[in-house]
Amino acid sequence: MLQRPRRNRKNAAIRGLAEEIHLLPKHLVQPLFLVDGKNKKNAIKSLPDIFQLSIDNALKEIEACMNVGVNSFILFPAVEDALKNKTATYSYSQKNFYLKAIKEFKKKFPECCLISDVAMDPYSSDGHDGYVENGKIHNDKTLPILAKMSVAQAEAGIDIIGPSDMMDGRVGYIRETLDGKGFSETSIMSYTAKYASAFYGPFRDALESAPKSGDKKTYQMNPANKREALVEAELDYAEGADFLMVKPATVYLDIIHELRQNFPIPIAAYHVSGEYAMLQAAAKNGWIDYAKCLEETLLSIHRAGADVVISYGSKDYANNIKKGKV
Ligand code: PBG
Repeated sequence: MLQRPRRNRKNAAIRGLAEEIHLLPKHLVQPLFLVDGKNKKNAIKSLPDIFQLSIDNALKEIEACMNVGVNSFILFPAVEDALKNKTATYSYSQKNFYLKAIKEFKKKFPECCLISDVAMDPYSSDGHDGYVENGKIHNDKTLPILAKMSVAQAEAGIDIIGPSDMMDGRVGYIRETLDGKGFSETSIMSYTAKYASAFYGPFRDALESAPKSGDKKTYQMNPANKREALVEAELDYAEGADFLMVKPATVYLDIIHELRQNFPIPIAAYHVSGEYAMLQAAAKNGWIDYAKCLEETLLSIHRAGADVVISYGSKDYANNIKKGKV
């Protein structure tokens, strides 16, 4: 036997030399759920160890993440029902606590990177990402609303706009609107291949944002499709996206690989609420080792080709590295 692959595994130092990929805290993004008010830290039943935070508590959480090297955050608002309406006007209202949060986070931590969520669902009385007319999602009437939301976020100081709505043409529409208002430096991370997934369940619990009727299959992608992800990616790339995102992550590793092979810009992948909740549920039953299974999961996403990994476990992973647990 001339080749004995085990020789490169014989001790930890050699395994370190032969290690092919490195997932560092700087590649990770921590999602944060925000609520209005003070000193709030509301548990989310289906998302263990993740909370809805008011701005004061979110600032502490950001600090804790940055202390272990996680510098990027993706922000989602939990909005009370009374503020929701058909056209999601609260999303760009100057009273929106989400916009205040962006300002305060950037003021206290100018070196952090903030990614927004652009979609109507947290603010829509219909619970859909787009404008609902006669029971249908009206693509072109949604675009100006998304653009207004994006401009308000850019004004508040967001680093990266994150359109998660899956309307056609929204990246170009948002890009042109931002440029027209002088925000040519605000980036766009497009949810490019976002599948109509049941793994978003706990997220919709966290925001109480589930659709009031129907599902999201007329805009989010069919889980059976791979070539279609290339169509979406070509459009978003041509329309000026700075990052392309695949979502969910672990059940779509082939899609991450496909986009990595075909596009030169950074690829992000979102390890979504249901994927995280499964790990936590098994770990809380004592069935798996959370730290190790989380590491293996996040590595698989990076190995498939994601430069950026968004996960509810980002802070935990970075803490585990620091403690020498992984
Ligand atoms: C909504 C949005 C969703 C997620 C991010 N943005 C849910 C949905 O499309 O219904 C899901 C994230 C997660 O499950 O962690 N525009």
